[in-house]
Amino acid sequence: MAKLSIVTIGDPVLTEKAEEVPKITKRISKLIDDMLETMYDANGVGLAAPQVGISQRIAVLDVGEGPVVLVNPVIKNGIGEEIDVEGCLSIPERWVYVKRYESVEVTALNEKGKPIRIEADGLFARALQHELDHLDGILIVDRMIGEAEVEIDEEGE
Ligand code: NI
Repeated sequence: MAKLSIVTIGDPVLTEKAEEVPKITKRISKLIDDMLETMYDANGVGLAAPQVGISQRIAVLDVGEGPVVLVNPVIKNGIGEEIDVEGCLSIPERWVYVKRYESVEVTALNEKGKPIRIEADGLFARALQHELDHLDGILIVDRMIGEAEVEIDEEGE
């Protein structure tokens, strides 16, 4: 595995709509492994491929319950609303309030290409919506409803 460099706001790859992954090739498997290593190294709870300069629909997450890999993820359902503070590994030293669904249902392929379905709430739901936004070129500053004065935690996505 290898650590990748994380691109930051201002890089055009962060505002592009990422491409579907047609097949889990060796290259994609390696990218997923490298993304996980990069996310853990950065103490992040999530990382999307555009954040390492790859415009493909892949995200990795770990909200403390082990790694989750999502290829071509789609939000099938979202319920409720919740406003909370988010940071982003691509937007260093900034924390903003974002309104998200309270709970979501997401379908995707896992790292082996097998269809999976996830029902999430709380931090996991928030992180999923944050990472899926990255795949559509949407950043927290596009959705922010206010600036957070202080760093609430040290997690980035
Ligand atoms: Ni982010």
